[in-house]
Amino acid sequence: MTKMIFLDNGATSFPKPEEVYRFMDHFFRNFGVNPGRSGYDLCMEAGLVVEETRKLLTDFFHGTDPNRLCFGYNSTDALNLIISGMLKPGDHAVSTMVEHNSVLRPLYHLRKDGVDVDLVPFDGAGFVDPEEIRKKFRPNTRLVIVNHASNVIGTVQPVAAIGRLCREAGIPFAIDASQSAGKVSIDMEAQFLDVVAFTGHKSLLGPTGIGGLYVREGIEIRHTRAGGTGVRSAVKAHLDEYPYRLEYGTPNVMGIAGLKAGVSWVLGKGLEAVHHEEMRLAGILLEGLKAIPRVTTYCLDSLEDHIAVLSFNVEGMDAADVGTMLDVDFGIACRTGLHCAPLVHERLGTDKVHGAVRFGIGPFNTEDHVRTAVVAVGKIAALPPKKR
Ligand SMILES: Cc1ncc(COP(=O)(O)O)c(C=O)c1O
Repeated sequence: MTKMIFLDNGATSFPKPEEVYRFMDHFFRNFGVNPGRSGYDLCMEAGLVVEETRKLLTDFFHGTDPNRLCFGYNSTDALNLIISGMLKPGDHAVSTMVEHNSVLRPLYHLRKDGVDVDLVPFDGAGFVDPEEIRKKFRPNTRLVIVNHASNVIGTVQPVAAIGRLCREAGIPFAIDASQSAGKVSIDMEAQFLDVVAFTGHKSLLGPTGIGGLYVREGIEIRHTRAGGTGVRSAVKAHLDEYPYRLEYGTPNVMGIAGLKAGVSWVLGKGLEAVHHEEMRLAGILLEGLKAIPRVTTYCLDSLEDHIAVLSFNVEGMDAADVGTMLDVDFGIACRTGLHCAPLVHERLGTDKVHGAVRFGIGPFNTEDHVRTAVVAVGKIAALPPKKR
């Protein structure tokens, strides 16, 4: 296999740390049974890994009770549980135009059932003003939900300021930490967060199919599903206590094991150190892209309060064509299109040109990778108009 340069870490991180592959292999071979359902040793061992990972992630988000860390399959799963379990007909919710479809679509879905939704725009630099969110508060506002870090423009929203306003108003505040978890600090206390939805396969460096949510004490999410929990089987209703309240059926125990290894890897390297190096590479990439005639970057006047996700277009070219050339001619993997965030592209005006090209930098990218990407984009942008 020819060596590809993987700059699509915004979609999922690849490769994973060796420790993740090794631990998943070890775990699956030796303990890959249904955790916590019986008393035999293997089952207890598998259950132990689940509980250790709950604790690890609770600490990671600066939560206080590991039982309030519930596992699901990805952040889409968690966000659906939050949105459908916290809102009911007649309620009002505030969100933003920086959201991914995993927030927008569940909200649109509830609009049909009589939930009112306000979507606050972001400014020219890609940030949402907390005060604009506050202005939307109503007596029946039951949820504010915000994408912590954009998967298109990479901006990190001021969640602590938004959280403080929500706490003062007594409105639950949830964040979509799909892009931010594993890149920037998430602190339930300091950032006034009530619910955090995370996915395991991006910067937490686990496999796909594992994610979940942390729910602060005092915040209750109605269960909108029901099923087996492995405990108290005679009870007819789905259990109210956490974590069972929001966990349904056999958990993805393999995914949880991989996530444990991924989060441990990030903690071992240091969250800030990983992010710092990614942003150093982002700086080189950005400087290179900006120097190429006919390349437009989006919301990238500065990299402050950004993650290493950068979007751009080449004038006169469809984003998909640029992506294909990067792949076929240069062996560089990126992501093109609307990135499941149509309102971001609507605001940028890039919906008219089929979106943008996105590079997502991960912990295994190197300076050589980003310099090669700059040269590749330069060559594509220099093609004569007919070939472009
Ligand atoms: C900001 C954001 N939210 C939600 C998601 C959904 O993540 P998942 O597909 O793992 O549920 C993504 C994934 O691209 C994302 O970038």
